[in-house]
Amino acid sequence: MNVVILAAGLGKRMHSDLPKVLHPLAGRPLLAHVIATAQRLKPGVICVVYGHGGERVREAFPQPGLAWAKQEPQLGTGHALLQALPHLNPKVPTLVLYGDVPLTRAETLASLCRAAGKGAALLTVELDDPYGYGRIIRSRGAIKRIVEEKDATKAERAVHEINTGIMVLPTARLKSWLSGLSNRNAQKEYYLTDVVAAAVADKVSIQAVQPGAAWETLGVNSKAQLAELERRFQAGVAAELMRDGATLADPARIDVRGSLVCGRDVSIDVNCVFEGEVALGAGVSVGANCVLKNVRVAAGTRIEPFCHLEDADIGARCRIGPYARLRPGTTLAEEVHIGNFVEVKASQIAARSKANHLAYVGDTTVGRDVNIGAGTITCNYDGANKHRTVIEDEAFIGSDTQLVAPVRVGRGATLGAGTTLTKDAPAGGLTVSRAKQVTIPGWKRPVKIKK
Ligand code: UD1
Ligand code: CA
Repeated sequence: MNVVILAAGLGKRMHSDLPKVLHPLAGRPLLAHVIATAQRLKPGVICVVYGHGGERVREAFPQPGLAWAKQEPQLGTGHALLQALPHLNPKVPTLVLYGDVPLTRAETLASLCRAAGKGAALLTVELDDPYGYGRIIRSRGAIKRIVEEKDATKAERAVHEINTGIMVLPTARLKSWLSGLSNRNAQKEYYLTDVVAAAVADKVSIQAVQPGAAWETLGVNSKAQLAELERRFQAGVAAELMRDGATLADPARIDVRGSLVCGRDVSIDVNCVFEGEVALGAGVSVGANCVLKNVRVAAGTRIEPFCHLEDADIGARCRIGPYARLRPGTTLAEEVHIGNFVEVKASQIAARSKANHLAYVGDTTVGRDVNIGAGTITCNYDGANKHRTVIEDEAFIGSDTQLVAPVRVGRGATLGAGTTLTKDAPAGGLTVSRAKQVTIPGWKRPVKIKK
């Protein structure tokens, strides 16, 4: 089949410079959700009708396999579908989707296609408050036409069955139906909905199908609706995680913007955000208010509250945080401890090493069983270039030490507190750079002069 995604509309009520279909839901543009759902149906053609926001919309989807039809000016949904027509295969049916309706399930669309057969099918829902929607007008049960809110009579407005806009149409008929549309209506637009009456006149069968849940057909016209759909989407993700065994302190306070895979007995406290691809091994616990982006955490690791972890690979049984930051390129082996206010970037830290308080470890290779004292800083940047630091196994880095890279601390070496290391420290020895401590005999504190 063909899929056409209508996405040329203005989105005035978003009050934003960003084109409506590019607003993110769960970290991806609205339109990305619709394209992904369409792809699950394996159509021959996916054509996006774009216009408002123009090339910005098109450039956001550089992947091959999408056809693009520009609609300018935007003269209505019927006019929009007409722009896509040259891209469509007339031998197979066409499914029409909206770029701002992101949560429709592929299963619902598949059943709509089955219902259409060689004819047409509309996805409809019964709403308590149908205000604003096109109404499905039936006679003796059979669908006759759709009337828009603004064109409807009082009796027609009393109908609760509404047009979601999602429909399947026989492509070979579209040319004549769409070119026959008129814009003599309240909005002076070419309504796609008028093809229904044309189909009835041509004795083409029209079926109606209802989705499993009404939210599948909700569109985004405002920031409030965007937030509502975001929560609905996240509720679905949370339910899935719990079904698979994860413990969530509050399923209403988790955000997954990408994919989160959890092993057995994972527990996640409130207000955590997961972005990109995150995998948590068995028994991992994540404290409150953590952000994890593209992170792999091996079994048994505890992440305390308020950590920010990005592009990092964390070994088994580590303890991270509270208030730790792991930046891209961080790899931790098993049983590593990274404590509060410690930042690690582009560094590999081997088993059982610890940096428990207030440190910066950047561009560094750290061996196993190393202790990095509070206030340690790797000075990896000379203002122009980055240099590496190597700290070998069992080294002990005293507090308040600066390691001016490139520099190497040998195996089992000890650096005295306060050292500024500018040359390699030999294995096994104590290296210290600090002014000798003196006590001045007889020294007196100054006293205030009396006037
Ligand atoms: C449309 C339907 C209405 C239905 C409602 C469901 C028509 C005439 N009416 O109304 O029956 O109940 O959707 O939400 O079809 N678009 C374009 N080009 C245009 C106009 C719109 O691409 O010239 C796109 C929009 O980006 C949007 C979709 O079509 O994705 C629907 O447009 P919108 O203006 O929201 O339609 P409604 O007036 O709400
Ligand atoms: Ca709309």
